[in-house]
Amino acid sequence: MQALPGFRDFLPRECAERNYIFARWRETARRYGFVEWDGPILEPTELFQKKSGPEIVTQLFNFTDKGEREVALRPELTPTLARIVAAHDRDFKKPLKWFSIAQCFRYEKQQRGRLREHFQLNCDIVGEGSLNSDVELIALAIDLLRALGFGADDFVVRISDREFWIDFLRSRDVAKERWSELLQIIDKSEREPRAKTAARLGDLAEPTFAILDGHGANEKLSRVMEDLRERGLDTFAKVDLSIVRGLAYYTGIVFEVFDRSGKFRAVAGGGRYDNLIAQLSDGAVSLPALGFAMGDVVLGDLIQEIPAADDQMRNVIDATSAVDIYIVIAKEERRDDAMRIGQRLRDSGRAVDYPFAGAKVGKQFQTAELVGARFAIVFGDEWPQVAVKNLANGEQQLVAQDELVAYLATSGSLSSRAERTGVEGPRGDTRT
Ligand code: HAM
Repeated sequence: MQALPGFRDFLPRECAERNYIFARWRETARRYGFVEWDGPILEPTELFQKKSGPEIVTQLFNFTDKGEREVALRPELTPTLARIVAAHDRDFKKPLKWFSIAQCFRYEKQQRGRLREHFQLNCDIVGEGSLNSDVELIALAIDLLRALGFGADDFVVRISDREFWIDFLRSRDVAKERWSELLQIIDKSEREPRAKTAARLGDLAEPTFAILDGHGANEKLSRVMEDLRERGLDTFAKVDLSIVRGLAYYTGIVFEVFDRSGKFRAVAGGGRYDNLIAQLSDGAVSLPALGFAMGDVVLGDLIQEIPAADDQMRNVIDATSAVDIYIVIAKEERRDDAMRIGQRLRDSGRAVDYPFAGAKVGKQFQTAELVGARFAIVFGDEWPQVAVKNLANGEQQLVAQDELVAYLATSGSLSSRAERTGVEGPRGDTRT
């Protein structure tokens, strides 16, 4: 039996990679003052039918539960966030800056970068209408990727403004009912032959292409770029009006993040959705909001593609997953002593491993190497002394058993796990 199409098994290596990505996401979101939240994986189907837009609704994993409720696995987190924020409006001071790492499910055609389940980091700001918050959010998206070892040559944030397109449609007297369909056509235009897009746009084709070809000026977008420049982050972003976003609820600045080579699907996408919370609460709570989500699937492909990001990941995983000490039991009658001291070492914060059954000393050293141990401690003939071997340089020293914990505490080459989890500072040029 295999996993369902589009679903992944996470073996220890893949789990370590996933945890590495999640750790960088959490650290960076916290650096921006975001706090973590989560919601249910299963929601009433209606929540998404009403709020996510037609494309996602066709991709729902939905069913009728045993209580005859129509339910769906979440394809995204934004409708859940809007529901929760509307319900707890009075409980929190605004603006909220919330992040969440959520597994999401979409019955999509499986292809590179698109599976039927994925994890998304969602970062949302609720209760803030100023453009400063849009810039802050884009800066966060950039810094998340910098924390993963990517530079300005590796990715770009393409920033656009849905309001610009709405104004455009309004100025051409296009009926409101057609806006969503036309925005979708513009959103897809990059991936479709121009003739096909032109046919679908009809009269609007010519002015739309003029804008897409770079003739659309927008003061708001210029300000966003200017503010990013102040932070030294403008080299990671560009204005690009071909970004409209497939989801129905966006109202203002929108953006998507792509690899520079254009090889992969979007790594992240989001924007402002000022009406969603009011719509969801039938007008009871009205709050401006904005956010984005970054998916782990394309990100994983991109890390593999960019050596600096891949090396950083491998170094961190190697440093954090190895055990500190492997206990070698050279004489079975020393097993009880080894267990007692092993327990004390674990209590002092060391990661300690040992063989469950008797084995040749050479075999035990091989296992020590396999688990990446930095030190082996040999319990054998020297008792009540033990041999402490530094596996990196082969140096060995006899230490009295009751001095072992103190000896290891002062041993320079055995840094604590916490010290070894540190990642080098973010890459990329942030000019001062
Ligand atoms: P989205 O653009 O639909 O936005 O998804 C965000 C990211 O999730 C994508 O850029 C991609 O990396 C990842 N993703 C989406 N679908 C899949 C899939 N089938 N397989 C793998 N990865 C996928 C949203 O979901 C919005 N709710 C984001 C948002 C938050 N807007 C405001 N706040």
